[in-house]
Amino acid sequence: MNPSMTGTLRMPAHVHFGYGTRAQLPRLLRLHGTRVLAVADPFLPSTQLFRDVLADLRAAGLDVTVYTDITAELPASSLDAAGTVARDLNPDVILAVGGGSTLDAAKLIGLLAAHGGTVSDYYGENAVPGPVLPIVAVPTTAGTGSEVTPVAVVSDPDRALKVGISSPFLIPQAAVVDPEFTFGAPTAVTAFSGIDALVHLVESFTAAPLHLDWASALPVFTGRNVFAEIVALQGVAKLGTWLPVAVADPENREAREQVSLGALLGGLSFGPTGTHLSHALQYPIGALSKTPHGLGTGLLLPYVLEACLTDPDTVRRIAAVGTALGSTSTTPAECAYDAVSAIMAINAAIGIPRSLRDIGIAEDELPHIARLGLASQRLVAIAPVPATADLLLSILTRAFRGALGDRGQS
Ligand SMILES: [Fe+2]
Repeated sequence: MNPSMTGTLRMPAHVHFGYGTRAQLPRLLRLHGTRVLAVADPFLPSTQLFRDVLADLRAAGLDVTVYTDITAELPASSLDAAGTVARDLNPDVILAVGGGSTLDAAKLIGLLAAHGGTVSDYYGENAVPGPVLPIVAVPTTAGTGSEVTPVAVVSDPDRALKVGISSPFLIPQAAVVDPEFTFGAPTAVTAFSGIDALVHLVESFTAAPLHLDWASALPVFTGRNVFAEIVALQGVAKLGTWLPVAVADPENREAREQVSLGALLGGLSFGPTGTHLSHALQYPIGALSKTPHGLGTGLLLPYVLEACLTDPDTVRRIAAVGTALGSTSTTPAECAYDAVSAIMAINAAIGIPRSLRDIGIAEDELPHIARLGLASQRLVAIAPVPATADLLLSILTRAFRGALGDRGQS
């Protein structure tokens, strides 16, 4: 079988998108019962929008307890404590409202409430033994796509890098993506989360095929995925056009709508497929430089793509990204270089630093970063070209200098 024509779709049973879709929340929650644990960003209870949502839920007869004790960077121990709270409350369903970290927290609270133990018991892939508490997820930022994906990321003081917990059981039962929630996000949050969504789309579109054994347990991230390919370029086109607008004009309702949809498509695309080198390298860079995830993945993406322009299939794929970003060049090689240049231009427009030097990385740290990146096996496994230590070091060296090769620079 041609592995490029296989695919896997995993997503919530209900995905609603658009202004006003939050009115569906009482019905979605009621599918699972009446006792609701609302896990929310700490600032949300002070907002009228969230208060209105709670009032609607209570008017519909739902018994809602609000939990906002979410710690930045999601230390595993803070989630263990939240899991104990959830077990004592014994809710029927979790409503998660917030940015990517809060949605991730809600997934893990649902996991601990259902299966006990501590978060560290479930590190890695496919360690979740069965369904978790049902989750209805409402993102307030347009970026991670966590509302539809099988992954949550935590920090652990015993580990140098952030740790992922991934399982299809962590996919929420429902996602409600109402762009109204994204208004008021700081400019940097709009930029960093939005560019991360673009990286999700591009990396899932360019993922290498894994040679899956369909008779065995499947990996959470399956590599090249015919379904992801259908949605990824749509999302790329939306973000390419509208992310700079949303950053420059945060009250623009069409821009917020298009960026929210692009980020949702990013989650639907990479959720079953995976991401690769920008993500593998961002984790050590984020740990060293204390910079946000999306800043790092966005900064790295042009250098990663340029380094992958070494075989015709990958050139064609990156060329399709270039076309989605507006390239009118006539050859695949030109369109592919246009993709690299276009992403550099988007980064510049939305305030993503150009180089690793700009974010405080030292040149002598690059080999160490390359080694740590290479250790993220599930990510490097679906890189479109073989991810050798030399390849990662050459990506990092160009990213450090902020200099593409001659073609990408033009
Ligand atoms: Fe990401």
